[in-house]
Amino acid sequence: MAAVLEFKNVNYTYPDRKEAALKNINFTVEKGEFVGIIGPNNAGKSTICRTTNGLIPNSFGGELKGSIFVNGENINDKKTALLAQRVGMVFSDPEAQLSQMSVWEEISFGAANLCVPKQEIFSRLENVLKLLKIEKLRDRSPFELSGGEQQRVAIASVLAMQPEILVLDEPTSNLDPQGTEEVFAAVKDLNKKSNITVVIVEHEIELLAEYADRIIFMNNGEIVLNGPPSEVFHSIDIFDQAGMNIPQVTETAYILDKTYKKWGNAPYPMTVDEAYEKFSAIK
Ligand SMILES: Nc1ncnc2c1ncn2[C@@H]1O[C@H](COP(=O)(O)OP(=O)(O)OP(=O)(O)O)[C@@H](O)[C@H]1O
Ligand SMILES: [Mg+2]
Repeated sequence: MAAVLEFKNVNYTYPDRKEAALKNINFTVEKGEFVGIIGPNNAGKSTICRTTNGLIPNSFGGELKGSIFVNGENINDKKTALLAQRVGMVFSDPEAQLSQMSVWEEISFGAANLCVPKQEIFSRLENVLKLLKIEKLRDRSPFELSGGEQQRVAIASVLAMQPEILVLDEPTSNLDPQGTEEVFAAVKDLNKKSNITVVIVEHEIELLAEYADRIIFMNNGEIVLNGPPSEVFHSIDIFDQAGMNIPQVTETAYILDKTYKKWGNAPYPMTVDEAYEKFSAIK
């Protein structure tokens, strides 16, 4: 499989800061993967996102060392405007990402700025409206939508630029549970049905446990764990030390294991369905 994104020995320090925000970061993301990034506050999660699309160092300044590759190409010297097309970014505040009078104009805006021909823009518009299931919102004002709808419009606008990877920094943190579900379902669909590579910073670990192929756990500027959810959530001590939760069913299995020693080496369950199966098998 080809790596869509690769960080090689990346170190980064913000201007006027002594401590590095990223310390020797190494990881790859393959085409079509769904990767969740988790970790406590100030771990460096947003800094990783900003580094993937050149906001760091182009807009933030500071000292960036090491190499970052998008589809095999070193992006260190590329301008943010060029990278915005290749790495689509979605942030936590949906309203702040919107500027146009209607949803269709919002979605067309980024692609038009890239001088994509009109006919091509209209065809992309139809396509992403369908992908995000927001056809009915086409003529509405983006500012009169629910948070979940706004976030889906923001994702559609980014996808209309046909990026090679979609990077989302806590896209659900300002949404109610329904909006969170809507956005997660949409992102999962994009990933599974359209093979769009997703890197998502997210606090909703229950959802990540269900949807992510791989989880990167960061703390204090470093990658502490990087693996499939079942493996990462098995390292409960590391979560504990960082003051982070694991999925509730996983924690229940951990307690059963420690108290009754009836678990063996099998990974703990991460979803209610998995837990039901595994708990029923305990004698
Ligand atoms: N613009 C900035 N200027 C200087 N230092 C910054 C800036 N943004 C972040 N930092 C510092 O870099 C480190 C990593 O911050 P970052 O925002 O990447 O963490 P995070 O994991 O996204 O945290 P959170 O969960 O709170 O969003 C922290 O020590 C933070 O104080
Ligand atoms: Mg952050």
